[in-house]
Amino acid sequence: MEKLLSVRNLRTIFHTYRGVVKALNGVSFDVYKKDFLGVVGETGCGKSVTSLSIMRLIEDPGEIVDGSVVFEGRDLLKLSEEEMQKVRAKEISMIFQEPKMALNPVLKVGYQIAEAVSTAEDLPIKSKEVQEKVYEILKAVGLPDPESMVEKYPHELSGGMAQRIMIAMGLVTKPKLLIADEPTSALDVTIQAQILHLIKELVSEMGTSAMIITHNLGVVAEYCERVVIMYAGNVAEIGNVKTIFKEPLHPYTKGLIKAVPVIGTKGKLQTIRGIVPDLVNPPSGCRFHPRCDHALDICSKELPPIKEVEPGHFVACHLYD
Ligand SMILES: Nc1ncnc2c1ncn2[C@@H]1O[C@H](COP(=O)(O)OP(=O)(O)OP(=O)(O)O)[C@@H](O)[C@H]1O
Ligand SMILES: [Mg+2]
Repeated sequence: MEKLLSVRNLRTIFHTYRGVVKALNGVSFDVYKKDFLGVVGETGCGKSVTSLSIMRLIEDPGEIVDGSVVFEGRDLLKLSEEEMQKVRAKEISMIFQEPKMALNPVLKVGYQIAEAVSTAEDLPIKSKEVQEKVYEILKAVGLPDPESMVEKYPHELSGGMAQRIMIAMGLVTKPKLLIADEPTSALDVTIQAQILHLIKELVSEMGTSAMIITHNLGVVAEYCERVVIMYAGNVAEIGNVKTIFKEPLHPYTKGLIKAVPVIGTKGKLQTIRGIVPDLVNPPSGCRFHPRCDHALDICSKELPPIKEVEPGHFVACHLYD
């Protein structure tokens, strides 16, 4: 499989009054061409910071201090801000959990989508070409009556419609990569499924790769082909969804999978003991070791490197050294 994006040893920190939050502690993973990749992990593990770092949208008091984000051969961390804006306008799109927050409340949605096209393609916003693309994408995301839809303001939309508009804005430029950060968490369950189906259908038609961030393993099981499991600012495991569910290697992944409720089974749900660490003072070595039932001596001393244990299956755990 051909690589589209290679994130290596990414470190992002936040300077806060409590101290330095070591949010990303050397994150590495790849996104392939036509990939449909899920990124999962508990709250605070660094999923959003990873995607914002890739897009170089980390703002003060945050800082990317190490690593590389190679996209089609270029390290995005080395581009000028101007070049990076072009990447954001045309090559990598991002959609967020709260679509209404991401839309400009005082502009009609048609104008906002047109603006995305006109920036990406360098075409006048009023041109016929731009207008046609707006109508075309509104139809593609399943919004009825594009003529009246373009005239609406964000507050007139339901949550599901607003997310369809965000997907339209994200995909109208035909990017190479779509990053969706919890794109359905704010929606009710039936709409969630529709939106994920829609994203999957559109990206596969366009040949766009997708990175779907979620804390819902069910979403990953149903929609993704590969998954990156994150824990406290590190990647714990990467692999094909089927392999990871059938044969998880990292003790954290095993715990996560056991914690998914299965319909028809009785008894108490299993949880992972302990709590997510504070990233101002994270545990030494492997950040999971205080919660791990299999921890060895070395686990509190050294961060385990990520290792390919079989083709396409990576784990960062001293048990597999
Ligand atoms: N602006 C900020 N200032 C300080 N700390 C931050 C900031 N943004 C993120 N962090 C910290 O970075 C770490 C990773 O946060 P991140 O938002 O990436 O988690 P997440 O995996 O996306 O969680 P969730 O599932 O809740 O969205 C957390 O410890 C968080 O508190
Ligand atoms: Mg998040």
